[in-house]
Amino acid sequence: MSEKNIDLNKTYWDNFYKTNFKSTPSQFCVCMLTEIDPTDTIVELGSGNGRDSLYFASQGHITVAMDLSHEAIASCEREAKERQVEHTSFFQGDLTNLENVSSVIQHARDKSESSMLTFYSRFVMHSLDDEQERKLLEILSSCLQAGEKIYFEFRSSEDAELDKVFGNHFRRYINIDAFHARLENGGFNISYSLVGQGMAKYKEEDPFVARIIACKK
Ligand SMILES: C[S@@+](CC[C@H](N)C(=O)[O-])C[C@H]1O[C@@H](n2cnc3c(N)ncnc32)[C@H](O)[C@@H]1O
Repeated sequence: MSEKNIDLNKTYWDNFYKTNFKSTPSQFCVCMLTEIDPTDTIVELGSGNGRDSLYFASQGHITVAMDLSHEAIASCEREAKERQVEHTSFFQGDLTNLENVSSVIQHARDKSESSMLTFYSRFVMHSLDDEQERKLLEILSSCLQAGEKIYFEFRSSEDAELDKVFGNHFRRYINIDAFHARLENGGFNISYSLVGQGMAKYKEEDPFVARIIACKK
């Protein structure tokens, strides 16, 4: 699907998370955990069913997450309760809405025991259209404090022609240079950037993904 409409997107993810309860954490989640401070509070933007948020929290991190899909957030809350994972808060909201994002970040600042938050967003940028990405980066530029880091993973332009396990929904394949420029214009330094395969393999699919770590100046 190349068409973009926030209601269609929400319906797609609501339906997806009605039946998809897999809770194995992603490789990117584990990669970030190996290098952050054990006391870091994590804000996940676009958490899906909480596979990564619940893992962050199980490792002792206060974790605050948001997603557009009500079904996804209900699944996060249900799993947290069933698995008795503490220190989590989940919010339904739109990442392109300043009020939604800033209230989630404020909640994390209130809960956090450290002065800085760590942000994480996996496989979400390519679920947004170009205008939504621009809005989200503008919001992050205004809400993050100097020194705070954000970890991104998303499908890059190189992935456009490869076969997908889950077809039939909106994806935008992101040009890494354009993404860097937007981050830099928004007052971020890019401390790490890599595009390649082998980082998010799933069944017969081995997508080209970008991994970026950016720090607010
Ligand atoms: C491919 S899933 C990734 C979920 C999770 N991060 C993971 O790696 O499994 C994309 C997620 O982005 C969420 N999403 C898409 N547009 C959004 C928006 N405008 N605001 C908040 N979440 C959004 C969807 O609901 C969906 O859960």
